[in-house]
Parts: sequence; structure tokens; C-alpha cells
Amino acid sequence: MYTSFDETPLDKIITLLKSHQSEFLSGEKLSKSLNLSRAAVWKNIKKLQSLGYKIESKQRTGYKLHFGTNFLLPWEISDGLQTDIIGRKIYYFDTIDSTQNFALKLSQKPHENGSVVIAKRQTKGRGRLNRKWVSPKGGIWLSILLRPNFELSQTSLFPMITSLAVSIAIEKILKIKPELKWPNDVTLKGKKVAGILIDVAIESNKIDYLVIGVGINFRIQSEKISRLVKRSHRRYGITTLVKEKQDGNPVELVQQFLLELEQMYNKVISNSVEEIRKEWIRRSSTIGKNVTAITTTGVLKGKAIGIDETGALLLSNRGKIQRLLAGDITYKNP
Ligand code: BTN
Repeated sequence: MYTSFDETPLDKIITLLKSHQSEFLSGEKLSKSLNLSRAAVWKNIKKLQSLGYKIESKQRTGYKLHFGTNFLLPWEISDGLQTDIIGRKIYYFDTIDSTQNFALKLSQKPHENGSVVIAKRQTKGRGRLNRKWVSPKGGIWLSILLRPNFELSQTSLFPMITSLAVSIAIEKILKIKPELKWPNDVTLKGKKVAGILIDVAIESNKIDYLVIGVGINFRIQSEKISRLVKRSHRRYGITTLVKEKQDGNPVELVQQFLLELEQMYNKVISNSVEEIRKEWIRRSSTIGKNVTAITTTGVLKGKAIGIDETGALLLSNRGKIQRLLAGDITYKNP
């Protein structure tokens, strides 16, 4: 595990190499500035190379950084992150069961409000409705722990603000405009590109803490994943934001998403939910469609006419309007 707050020689070496990008930096210089042996410098360079940095090493000359990494390393995300709370602490894992589970454990520790947990791959990624979330390398798998001073009824706002933040960040960084599918899927040409899972702990009718889990298919082999996802769960296809050989750095997308989310979270605190609701509707593919909803209490059908200020979907059927708080929907004529 790497964090954004434990000092390691890795981020110090990378900072030095970045500031000398046009020239080789000698092993001797690095070892002096970091107070490390030459062997330790070499070991750390090897580690950095395994973390995706393209570093050239030349005998008797030193080291030169050619390319940064595509790994979501905590020091890379912290560098230039413009948030105040979200991402104050970042934890990174190469492999973990689920970032969601780790963030839930963090909730038992003090000073973790806003902590972000990221993994390169998850072995037991969790999706909504107890589904499995296939999480190979190339995706953005992260969880955020928050302790909002909110009423329980405000819980349903979190899927709304998170999906909106994902969609705005994708648009700003990658210049592509995804759609939102109620309750919280982000899609591209009708195929799922990101999903959101919220775990919430309640105490005396208030939110004690919540963990927002976000899975973004950033650069994945979507056909392979589609095959892995159980047939019954494949209600509609899966896609990737960036193709395998295409350029695109996930670090910027994560930074932008965390910033959008924090701004949206502040809007909820200052009661500006109406603005968020309108923007969600503007970006949604659900509103205006005839939908079938599978809920815990049965199947509902109707035309999606809007969402209310709590994020509930409003379904109109023969002049009757029903509020849908949770569930899974399919479009009649997708
Ligand atoms: C969905 O079913 O659409 C929600 C998927 C949420 C997946 C993310 S990946 C990071 C976090 N850790 C998990 O185990 N799940 C969430």
C-alpha cells in the first residue's frame, strides 16, 4: 500500500527526476539529496519502473525520466489536487478485495473524513444489488469516506451528485459527453461506462458515515468484461472510455472528479439542490423514456417524467405519479 501522507523515497525521487526532465540526474546526486545509499536509489528506481514510470538508467551518467505513469499513485493525484476535504488522505493498493471494504474499515478510525481509497485491481469488487463488479487493471476503482452532517433522507442525493460529478469530469477532461441513467449509471451511447455504489451507516436517524464507491471503465477490454459479467446481470452493454492504445491519463480525470464532487457536496450543504437536480435531468437519458423498474416490492411501469429534490424517479402511469426511490430500470425502446 502507498499513501499520500507517508514519506517514501519514491515520491521524492520522482519529484527530483521531474524537475530535471531534460537531463540525466546522477545516482550520486540523488543519493546525496535523499540521504540514501546508491544501492537504495537503484532499488527505488526499479520500484518506480514497476509502477509504470519510464526511467532510463545509463551507466556512469544517471537516471532520466521519459514518461510519467498511468497508475493512480497517491502522490500523483495529490499533486495539483484542488480540493479541501476529499482526498486529504489517499490510500493506493496494487490489489485489494474491495476499496469499499477498506474505506468501511477506515470509518472506525479518527481523521478519515474525505479519505480516498484507490486500487489498480480488485479481487472482490462489489456492485449494486449484491452484484459482482469485475475490476481488472486499467479501470478507476475508488471509494470515498465521508461524514456529512446530513439527515437520512438526504442519502439519496449522493448517487445523484456522484454520477453528475463523474459525468462532468469526463466531459471536461476527455471532451466526450456521457449520459446519466437513473439511478446512478453513467453511459456512453447507451453502454455502461461507470457505476456507483453507496454504503451508508445510520445512527439515530442521521447519517453516521457513508462510503461512495465509484467504478469507471477507463481503459478496459470491455468485450472481455461483458463476457465475465453474468448473463442475467447484462441488462445492457459495457464500454470503455479510452481504447487500449489511445492516449489519456486517468490521474487528471480522478482529480477533476474529486473536485466536482466536493463542489457538489458543498452545494448540498448550502441547500442548492435545485441546481444539481436540473443539471442531472439535462444530462439524463432516462427522462421522457418509458421504463420498467424492478424494485424490492415488484415491477413498476411508466413514463419517466423527472426526478424530485431527493433524487427519486417520478414515473407517470395513467395519470398517476409514483416515486421510485431505488431499483433497477430498463428502457422500453432503448
Ligand atoms: C454498480 O453496480 O453500478 C456500482 C459499481 C461500483 C463499483 C465500485 S469500484 C470501487 C468500489 N469498490 C467496490 O467494491 N465497488 C465500488
